[in-house]
Amino acid sequence: MFTPLSLPNGQVLKNRIAKAAMEESMAEAGQLPGAPMQRLYRRWAEGGAGLLITGNVMVAPDAMTGPGGLVLEAGTPLAPYRAWADSVHAGGAKVWMQINHPGRQVFAALGNPGWAPSAVPLAMGKHGKLFAPVQALSAEQIAAIVQRFADTARAAEAAGFDGVQVHAAHGYLISQFLSPLSNRRTDAWGGTVEGRAKLLIDVLRAVRAAVQPGFAVGVKLNSADFQRGGFSEDDARAVVGLLNAEGVDLLELSGGSYESPAMQGRTADGRTLAREAYFLDFARDLATAATMPVMITGGIGRRAVAEAVLASGIDVVGLGTALAMQPDLPRQWAQAEAVAPRPVVAWRDKTIASLATMALVRRQLHRLGAGKRPAPGASPLTSLVMDRWMMKGLTRRYRAWRAAAA
Ligand SMILES: Cc1cc2nc3c(=O)[nH]c(=O)nc-3n(C[C@H](O)[C@H](O)[C@H](O)COP(=O)(O)O)c2cc1C
Repeated sequence: MFTPLSLPNGQVLKNRIAKAAMEESMAEAGQLPGAPMQRLYRRWAEGGAGLLITGNVMVAPDAMTGPGGLVLEAGTPLAPYRAWADSVHAGGAKVWMQINHPGRQVFAALGNPGWAPSAVPLAMGKHGKLFAPVQALSAEQIAAIVQRFADTARAAEAAGFDGVQVHAAHGYLISQFLSPLSNRRTDAWGGTVEGRAKLLIDVLRAVRAAVQPGFAVGVKLNSADFQRGGFSEDDARAVVGLLNAEGVDLLELSGGSYESPAMQGRTADGRTLAREAYFLDFARDLATAATMPVMITGGIGRRAVAEAVLASGIDVVGLGTALAMQPDLPRQWAQAEAVAPRPVVAWRDKTIASLATMALVRRQLHRLGAGKRPAPGASPLTSLVMDRWMMKGLTRRYRAWRAAAA
């Protein structure tokens, strides 16, 4: 766990522990990072993880996972991003920016349409009305999005980041293209797994062409969507085969989407995941098909589990929730076993329970960013109410920003 890892492009991670992407919802005016983000990331870097992958940064200002998200496009001022990257380097870790386009997983309140491979709405039951109406992308619009990923990666490199991670998991745009449930296209971007993976491959080639060879390019991919008729393990194996030819430096395996939140340990197709290290069984199999280093994230919070993951042939362990609850867990693990507390919200409405869990974790990020200690025992209900209140204010500010730009 504490030995360095050399990546295919020559970049060296000082150990095998990565902080997984967690959207901070801490953007300041203009959807830019500020001082709380620097404090949060300095804390994580000093906590001992060798690689920090940022929460997802949007490639387009009209396609946001949430109102407190960051946007980095051609022309965005780089100084706030540079200060953020510097805060990680000062703490001794590498930092990669996760870059994302949410596609149809966008809230109606933000005032933008949900762009998707096909006009298929999210199957969220009674919560469906929270999401924006969905429109299918044209070939020209797809090409413009590919260019945006490249522009964002180039800007991240110019701001001093060590790499980017292309978000191709969790039901966002690239993952929507990969899934036969959301991708019903009959053109070059649909049909066979090669067609459904074309957007991912086009994005990776454009990103690689936009950055220097020493800049790392990673991918976060679902090991499966855990939905009947969705992106399957066989699809995932085929995509890994395609990725082997694309100079990917690290492949992170996760699972799920808003419709089937397997990344929180719950699936829509009724399949049971392991209680800890949810995706290990799937990843072990996929890792045999991958020529690049593989990382898994989801349900890891004990050193014994992290060691078992690494012993089974996985190269990097990803920690999300555990590092929100205990930012210096890696430092503690270097000495002895330590366990990060994990919120359990067992409410009947799974969607609301999932939002409350996210809110509770996000609250810890905000506490860390304010220089406070985490409060893992905080009430999920209070956290959810506070979170909704905060999102309301951020939504108002975001809409005013968009209106001013129009
Ligand atoms: C508050 C919160 C925000 C998240 N934001 C992102 C994100 O921006 N990008 C991403 O790929 N995953 C995101 N995730 C998912 C995590 O990266 C991870 O896959 C998931 O939480 C499971 O890992 P864990 O059990 O270690 O938390 C988020 C999770 C939480 C709790």
